[in-house]
Amino acid sequence: MALFTGTNLIDLDSADSTNNYALNLLKEKQPFEGTVVRTFRQSLGRGQRQKQWDSEDFSNLTFSIIYYPVFLSVNKQFQLSKAIALGVTDFVKSIVKKEPVKVKWPNDIYVGDKKIAGILIENSVSGTKISSAVIGIGLNINQTIFSPEIPNAVSLKMITGKDMDLESCFQQLCVSLEVRYMQLKAGNEKLIDELYHNTLFGLNEEREFMIGNKHIFAKIIGVDDLGRLKLNEGLFVNAYDLHHVVFRI
Ligand code: BTN
Repeated sequence: MALFTGTNLIDLDSADSTNNYALNLLKEKQPFEGTVVRTFRQSLGRGQRQKQWDSEDFSNLTFSIIYYPVFLSVNKQFQLSKAIALGVTDFVKSIVKKEPVKVKWPNDIYVGDKKIAGILIENSVSGTKISSAVIGIGLNINQTIFSPEIPNAVSLKMITGKDMDLESCFQQLCVSLEVRYMQLKAGNEKLIDELYHNTLFGLNEEREFMIGNKHIFAKIIGVDDLGRLKLNEGLFVNAYDLHHVVFRI
């Protein structure tokens, strides 16, 4: 069991989006740090860049954690994204042994060339600090048929061939996330930076990018402090401008 992540668990029969529910909760009160809003039936799951996150009912994990990373300055907010991506990666790696588990920048979790999990972090800012963060995680566990619109989706069951227990996956994932969050809180940034760098999908490989309407071929050489993707062409790609960028794999 994690120490505080998921200890206060709000289990909903259904929800439009657990991130929306958690954000509304924060408007009314300050729930305990580590409060989790979870549902196995999410109707309007939100993804990054205004995309939708579809998840088959009762097959996967869809939940949001409320953390208060008040120790993080706004210009360091990508550190939280890194820590969370590593936490999800750690959990997936504990199950998937034969294929590489990577973070596709900024924070999609891939097994081989297929996406297994997505993360949507929504921060609130007070002055120069992050006051609260809603960390939405969608992890594909037992779903085996996905819409043809997302041909690169994969689940743990598709990889292992086994039905997984959702509750125990959830508990283990909470532990992995809390470990990385606590490392960040303890100021262990170097470790987080190093691990994130080494886990980057496509690192040092030539990829095709479309920035604005310009196609370029470049190598990913890392991520800077602001969370921008560094390419060997001397270019930086901003996560928040990602809709202008097609990062083909
Ligand atoms: C992405 O890959 O674009 C991010 C997907 C995040 C999906 C999760 S599911 C639980 C939480 N609630 C939401 O509405 N979205 C996140």
